Amino acid sequence: EKGGYDHFMLKEIYEQPRAIKDTYRGRLLADQGLIRMAGIDLNMEKFLNANRIIIVACGTSWHAGLVAEYIFEDLARIPVEVEYASEFRYRNPVITDKDVLIAISQSGETADTLAAIKLAKEKGAFVFGVCNVVGSSIARESDAGAYTHAGPEIGVASTKAFTTQITVLTLIALKLAKAKGVFSESRYHEYLTELENIPNKVEKALQSNALIEIIADVYKDSTNCLYLGRGYNFPVALEGALKLKEISYIHAEGYPAAEMKHGPIALIDEHMPVFVIATKKGHYEKVVSNIQEIKSRKGKIIAIVTEGDEQVRDLADHVIEVPETLESLTPLLTTIPLQLLSYHIAVMRDCNVDQPRNLAKSVTVE
Ligand code: M6R
Repeated sequence: EKGGYDHFMLKEIYEQPRAIKDTYRGRLLADQGLIRMAGIDLNMEKFLNANRIIIVACGTSWHAGLVAEYIFEDLARIPVEVEYASEFRYRNPVITDKDVLIAISQSGETADTLAAIKLAKEKGAFVFGVCNVVGSSIARESDAGAYTHAGPEIGVASTKAFTTQITVLTLIALKLAKAKGVFSESRYHEYLTELENIPNKVEKALQSNALIEIIADVYKDSTNCLYLGRGYNFPVALEGALKLKEISYIHAEGYPAAEMKHGPIALIDEHMPVFVIATKKGHYEKVVSNIQEIKSRKGKIIAIVTEGDEQVRDLADHVIEVPETLESLTPLLTTIPLQLLSYHIAVMRDCNVDQPRNLAKSVTVE
């Protein structure tokens, strides 16, 4: 059932090219310039008239929500707030019938996320669910929704659910951008075509696996790690750190790269590995100067870079390349090496990769 892989997590990491394709199959019709999603088409007015979109989720799904915030605001120019479901529901939030709430959940059973959508519905908001498990509670409670179609995710550490959530949310943002008329035809087509290229590019990113295993061996005994990213890759840094924490039990923190100088830089010495996402698009030069700051404090730098990069290669201790793509689609690629890294480190530390201690696949208690 693990399809020849040692663990479900590895199988699910490798399934991502197919899972992403399954997510957009039948929806993305690039040659016709169309994105078909009934749940959006039927409720287009609600989205277009919304004061704002509120995204609620937990854990990895919350990280997908953060990526979505950047995409919705950048592409569709709709204000977005992303909330931890558990905080949102308990802080007497201001919700009106002009709000659209998107709940993101792989399992569709996360108690806090479910409670958050019930609260939003009571206050008259329109609730849209992005779930993986068909017929799950959140899917049923939502007014409309779109499934991720990632297939069953067994490993407790979420991998393909994350990339397929981002895929669905990107499709939605593109549809809204088109309907609002804020996107030129050529830009819209560029996105559709590039989305179709993503599975092949994920496949390419997976080819760094052997190199990543070597890097994992160097850092497997670390006690602390820092993950840095900016813009679209800030949530990816958070996700990389969460993955490492939950399966290898190494303390890791994700930060927006520019926040380093407001505190975390004090932690850096020769024992601190810093994973930096430094792809060509998205504040590249600024991230390069962060890398220089880390280097001058003797931190170890493992950088995720765009294919062919030379500048970071000269500075970093290790570089892992991912193919070039549109800036807003980079999370779909940069997250791959970080998943593999935490996987290999966990295996080398003899951890129970698929069922890490103290964790459950779906958190149905509050
Ligand atoms: O099923 P959900 O997407 O609602 O689950 C949310 C979190 O519990 C989940 O993403 C958790 O953080 C994962 N173990 C992360 O890998």
